[in-house]
Amino acid sequence: MNAVNEPVVIHKGLDNVYVKESKICYIDGEASKLFYRGFSIEELASHSTFEETTYLLIYGWLPTRQQLDQIETHLGSHRSLEPKIIDLLRMPYAKSDAMDVLRTAVSALGVYDPQPMTDNITVRIEKSLTILAKVPTIIAAFHRLRSGNDPIPPKGNLSHAAEFLYMLTGREPGPYDAHVMDVALILHAEHEMNASTFACTVTASTLADMYSVITSGIGTLRGPLHGGANEAALKMVLEVGDASNAENYVADALAHKQRIMGFGHRVYKTWDPRYLILKKLAGELAVRKGQTKLFDTAVAIETSARKHLEGTPIFPNVDSYSGIVFHMLGIETDLFTPIFAMSRISGWTAHAIEYLEANRLIRPKALYVGKIGLPYTPIDQRTGKPQE
Ligand code: ACO
Repeated sequence: MNAVNEPVVIHKGLDNVYVKESKICYIDGEASKLFYRGFSIEELASHSTFEETTYLLIYGWLPTRQQLDQIETHLGSHRSLEPKIIDLLRMPYAKSDAMDVLRTAVSALGVYDPQPMTDNITVRIEKSLTILAKVPTIIAAFHRLRSGNDPIPPKGNLSHAAEFLYMLTGREPGPYDAHVMDVALILHAEHEMNASTFACTVTASTLADMYSVITSGIGTLRGPLHGGANEAALKMVLEVGDASNAENYVADALAHKQRIMGFGHRVYKTWDPRYLILKKLAGELAVRKGQTKLFDTAVAIETSARKHLEGTPIFPNVDSYSGIVFHMLGIETDLFTPIFAMSRISGWTAHAIEYLEANRLIRPKALYVGKIGLPYTPIDQRTGKPQE
């Protein structure tokens, strides 16, 4: 009951609460299906690019050649960072969390935009695409600076995926590595009303600017219950070390009620369709890079875990092989969640814009269960505990 004695249902975690109608993403967690704007994730991973998928998510249709050129040109011409942002990236401690740095840098981009606020949806989308363009540059520059190297300016004519790998390493990636990174970005670009997308939607519903919207998403993604499981999954595989250790590791972990990282999902009650795509890419990369031991260890963990978890709805999720893929591309583990953000800005923007098209300020309620009407106690009579 609430203060006026009406029955109240509390939806802890907002489980099964719908906040809007949407045409952006459909997940069938029982059938292992994921669609962006009606297109299956398998089709997009096989035929699309991250830039095209971004266009699809935000605008709602596959772009014509001219529309694709426009978005690619916008991204390519907005990747550079102002010196003030580079100076900001020099300031964190060597051990500062990369997500903290990314959140701060995206927020700072808004400080240097003379007009961050706008009512115009087209301008909002342009500002989001500008942020999207700069995020790979921010992540790469931060990593190079903390490693004692100078940031590498963007080439301007590479894809989102290739440009990131180039700015990170100083070497233009080969077509296969660029393709793998591109597919990984497509797979992480959108996933319906997850916690960070909801955070972005709440912020957008106040009519705040897109820097605030995307900063909200980064802050929410930072938590270990959301982003971050891919790092934990890779650490687990590295700790297991060899396929021959997998069975003992899994049996021991499950006997001690520990979770197998990269397994289980709130929505998927069978395998995550993104897992299958990433596993295939990880296997191919392993052969090309001569890192089959890592991949074989991950497969052995998967096989043991599925044997022990048979009869449960706990299957491999997107994180079971994504960390391995990023590791084999030569990326530091603590950059995995920032890369997730670098891709998910597309989905965050799509949902914020869709919500704003029929906006209503999001303002849920909390059921008050405290006391009311307490007498105000003078400071020298207080007990330092809750008032009886
Ligand atoms: N390994 C072993 N057991 C598991 C796992 C796992 N990975 N996941 C769930 N379970 C078990 C739980 O221990 C629990 O068992 P119990 O009922 O005997 O106590 C049961 O399954 C239900 O667990 P919940 O946490 O209620 O399930 P939920 O669907 O809410 O959990 C979650 C989803 C948080 C992802 C969970 O599966 C997990 O912690 N997985 C490991 C971390 C991970 O891989 N996260 C990435 C998810 S994908 C993404 O966010 C991009």
